[in-house]
Amino acid sequence: MSKHTVKTIKAMHDKKETITMLTAYDFPTAKKVNDAGIDMILVGDSCAMVVHGHPNTLTATMDMMVLHCAAVARACDRTMVIADMPFGSFQYGIEETMRNAARFVTEAKVDGVKFEATPHHIEKTEAIVKMGIPVVGHVGLHPQAVGALGGLKVQGKDIETARKVVSEAIALQEAGAFAIIFEAVPAKLSEWVTNRLSIPTISIGGGPGCSGQLLVTHDVLGMYDNFTPSFAKRYREVGQLMLDTFKQYKEEVLTGVFPAKENCYSMSDEVMEAIEK
Ligand code: KIV
Ligand code: NA
Repeated sequence: MSKHTVKTIKAMHDKKETITMLTAYDFPTAKKVNDAGIDMILVGDSCAMVVHGHPNTLTATMDMMVLHCAAVARACDRTMVIADMPFGSFQYGIEETMRNAARFVTEAKVDGVKFEATPHHIEKTEAIVKMGIPVVGHVGLHPQAVGALGGLKVQGKDIETARKVVSEAIALQEAGAFAIIFEAVPAKLSEWVTNRLSIPTISIGGGPGCSGQLLVTHDVLGMYDNFTPSFAKRYREVGQLMLDTFKQYKEEVLTGVFPAKENCYSMSDEVMEAIEK
């Protein structure tokens, strides 16, 4: 199977095949996501939280994201890799936004970019698409607006925010986005919008009516204990497995079980005897 592109994702959508997407931030994890046959990876700015331990995503920087994106892109010969543009990388004008989008493609070799575009950023979406860089939109909850929203909350339960989800999704499609992420949006609303768009919608807390599903890998693996959103599913408790493993290692070191003979290098008696003299 060759690498996913905007064309193969569109073909999946035309055939009504469900698109699968996960986040990844490092080479070994991205390799497993790729090998599991997941269609797309988002190198999310959630990286600032789940990898770097910051309280929210606002501290992610271009340099941080480019470094993680490059590691992920090196692991993917099948999965399409999308870079999440961090806060401050698309707010200061079209040219700077274009330059930052280009950095992800030239330095990190990702296949596309995503950003938390509001109606103020539609021209920027168009400009990046015109450069030839595939763009994924993002509606509903914008975690970079955590301060303005007063917390990470579902968007679209009232008429005002529901209208915002609908109009932003349409504007993003018209601007040339090839897919749109629906984050923390009531399932009925996501499904209604999905049925009115021609491009695929990807749900993260947007319900089953979207064209695909996305989760943060650290949630899926049970590796991030600070906060698990209600829309996420912890498939495994890898964090617990790590904790148990590190405890066992400590125990074995203290009791002399590790290192065993097979973990040691041998040498000839002659060399040792010469040294002892
Ligand atoms: O940073 C991220 O992981 C994201 C998803 C939650 C959509 O933007
Ligand atoms: Na993000």
